[in-house]
Amino acid sequence: MAINTKINTSKLDEILCRYEYKKSNLIAILQAVQEEYRYLPEDALIYIGTKVEGLSPATVFGVATFYAQFSLEPKGKFEIKVCDGTACHVRGSMPVLNAIRNKLGIKEGQLTTDNGLFSLETVSCLGACGLAPVVVINGKVHPQMTSDAISIVLDTILKEEE
Ligand code: FES
Repeated sequence: MAINTKINTSKLDEILCRYEYKKSNLIAILQAVQEEYRYLPEDALIYIGTKVEGLSPATVFGVATFYAQFSLEPKGKFEIKVCDGTACHVRGSMPVLNAIRNKLGIKEGQLTTDNGLFSLETVSCLGACGLAPVVVINGKVHPQMTSDAISIVLDTILKEEE
């Protein structure tokens, strides 16, 4: 089967080898691939499905789409998660989300900015309701966000990336 040249198959083989090409390690394999590419490229899933005994590409796709932790779309260098659980919603997560969308030019339904720098998604309660509304950027928690505060955070990142 033809594999997209953008996919580094030797990198995939290294990951598969680390997990002994075992079907029972599929979740760990997918986690490692996502860590490498920041998402699960379609061709990587096909490759895994053809290389691991007892799996098929369809099964690998099924598992990858079942778990919310996996993304089949490219994520940005900076992954922004806006909590829209009840506490965060009540304390103003939507204006914060809209401020991020406006600042970065991300339309509703769009995951990643065209330059690949940011991806934006809403998530359910992160278990930090006392800090609501919460925004997480690449795993770092930003508590009690406001539209102005998130704008400053994003400006700082944009400046560093210039
Ligand atoms: S609702 Fe946002 S952290 Fe709980």
